[in-house]
Amino acid sequence: MLSFLLVFSSALIGCNSSSGQDAKETKLEIFSWWTGAGEEAGLNALLDLFKKKYPDIEVENAAVAGGAGTNAKAVLASRMQGNDPPSTFQVHGGAELNDSWVAAGKMEPLNDLYEKEGWNDKFPKELIELVSKDGKIYSVPVNIHRGNVLWYNKKIFDQNGLQPPKTFEEFFKVAEALKAKGITPLALGDKEPWTATHLFETVLLGSLGPEDYKKLWTGELAFDDPKVKGAVETLKKMLSYANKDHSSRNWQDASQLVAKGEAAMNVMGDWAKGYFTNDLKLKVNQDFGWVPTPGTEGSFMVITDTFGLPKGVKNAEDVKKFLSLLGSVEGQDAFNPLKGSIPARTDADSSKYDEYGKQTMQEFKEAKLTPSLAHGSAAPEGFVTKVNQAVNIFVTQQNVDQFIDSLKAASSELKK
Ligand code: GAL
Repeated sequence: MLSFLLVFSSALIGCNSSSGQDAKETKLEIFSWWTGAGEEAGLNALLDLFKKKYPDIEVENAAVAGGAGTNAKAVLASRMQGNDPPSTFQVHGGAELNDSWVAAGKMEPLNDLYEKEGWNDKFPKELIELVSKDGKIYSVPVNIHRGNVLWYNKKIFDQNGLQPPKTFEEFFKVAEALKAKGITPLALGDKEPWTATHLFETVLLGSLGPEDYKKLWTGELAFDDPKVKGAVETLKKMLSYANKDHSSRNWQDASQLVAKGEAAMNVMGDWAKGYFTNDLKLKVNQDFGWVPTPGTEGSFMVITDTFGLPKGVKNAEDVKKFLSLLGSVEGQDAFNPLKGSIPARTDADSSKYDEYGKQTMQEFKEAKLTPSLAHGSAAPEGFVTKVNQAVNIFVTQQNVDQFIDSLKAASSELKK
């Protein structure tokens, strides 16, 4: 009797869990870190469009909060390891996609979808390369964010007769002038350490130039090279102009300091523009302005958010419908004007973008493209994690040699 009950109840449990499983697998689960202010508006626009087109497909927005995937990446890793992938997930083109999920054999190639949608000449070649390995294409880019942007409060600059700095020398002059007036020159919010890594990579690019910057990721330029040390000294000096409460703020809080006129400048990717215009209702070129971060004019730090098809998902056809929309002109033009990014496609409708977007589309075509470290393109996740930790220690301890040693030690991850 007891054994009958056990068999019977386990059959019931089995039955429940398998129907639960089916429901989960037929839902289109879209995994990202786009939640809250400055992050979710673009995704919501895309999801609304999808729901209108496919009212019968149940969509679940499975976003995990935390800038730059601070928490989402860990959740994703444990799901992937447990063979429980979301239907599709946000992943940066470059190492973050290729050296982890593709290398581990966890992604389906999408060459057929590219063929069917006629995408091969619609995305820039460099972008397709970033989402490909050994001739197979593994994800669809929804956008291109620019990482090397210095945002500034226009009124502060105008009232003090200052020009936005284009070089480090100009930056420090402007910062001194602002400090003398009692204005915080640089806003930083490194409660999540990636923002300091973000600042650091722009300083590396500005100090080394695009060619040497790229050599860091191939091992052709060592992290204890005097040029890198020089960049770290510059970073240290810049940090001395930051708000004192930087470690208790996230990126939106830091952007807010500039928005409210409590700080003059901030270095952040152009998701900050989405936040300024959509959430804070600021006007482009009136309330805030922008220039490339010091020393980086003519270079474009590329950050591309992409989505792919994990192996083993039951609703692959629904996922492909979502990817088709995400890669379409319509999808990209719904998403990007809200997100602050430019469309990944070259044939999107530029009239849908503001002055910042139009200028950035133009500059993308002309600039030297460089991969972002903080946002996963330049180097494998193991390296990025170690750099985030080292940068975080550097921000508090300011020990240049110790930081260089940590970078050098972490660089063994690059060769794996
Ligand atoms: C980046 C991502 C952007 C934006 C930002 C802040 O890694 O590519 O789309 O979300 O993080 O969270």
